[in-house]
Amino acid sequence: MIEFKSKEFHIKRIANCISEEIKLRQKFDQHLVLGLATGSTPIPLYDELVRLHTEENLSFRNVYTFNLDEYCGLEDNHPESYHTFMNVNLFDKVDIPRENIFIPSGQIEPLFERDYCEGYEQTIKDLGGIDIQILGIGRSGHIGFNEPGSSVDSITRKVKLHDITRRDAASDFGGFDNVPTHAITMGMKTILSANRIFFMAFGEAKQEITKRAFCGEITDDIPASHLQKHNKKTICIDFNIN
Ligand code: GLP
Repeated sequence: MIEFKSKEFHIKRIANCISEEIKLRQKFDQHLVLGLATGSTPIPLYDELVRLHTEENLSFRNVYTFNLDEYCGLEDNHPESYHTFMNVNLFDKVDIPRENIFIPSGQIEPLFERDYCEGYEQTIKDLGGIDIQILGIGRSGHIGFNEPGSSVDSITRKVKLHDITRRDAASDFGGFDNVPTHAITMGMKTILSANRIFFMAFGEAKQEITKRAFCGEITDDIPASHLQKHNKKTICIDFNIN
């Protein structure tokens, strides 16, 4: 389903859906597994989840989270790491147990990368899979850090970042050359296995690539295009903002 509504509408709607699902699971003493994204796009969603926690008593005690990706070579506490991003924007502000949070490490020795990535996949499976996946899109057409050429069968692994992706991150890192060249990302298969997906694209800069992803052919050259095949997804679009 593609929905052209305001960004505010989309954010409230996704946050309410997550909140209702968390509360439903609490009633039955069950947990909920969220797949989480970074970047500027999901920040208002995290703000709304924090508001629901502080103002409406929504508890995250039964929630597990798996982040899509992390830059290789960054310590967890690096200001631009996705660990820091998630702590600042969500985890430090809600009552999720620390042991329920999973973010790929950017500090794995090459020799152990493969085992580490398989372990990440296994942990997701052991918890019953991802119930709700939040996604944004990069201008290269990536989801997570699945850059053009990523196969639909790919699982969590180390990848080389596209130059467009590194250019887009350059200002955060104080220059293109400071942007890590590689990352660990959940694979396309990992993402497409989520039970429900909310994809968000806000602002004019995302219009062209989003159109190619959802109105063009399904191709590994635009990894996000594989989302066309997911049967429980909501495409939340608002291009009328900067
Ligand atoms: C990074 C993340 C993606 C995210 C993308 C877009 O590349 N790995 O998961 O979708 O940024 O970021 P923004 O929302 O800031 O445009």
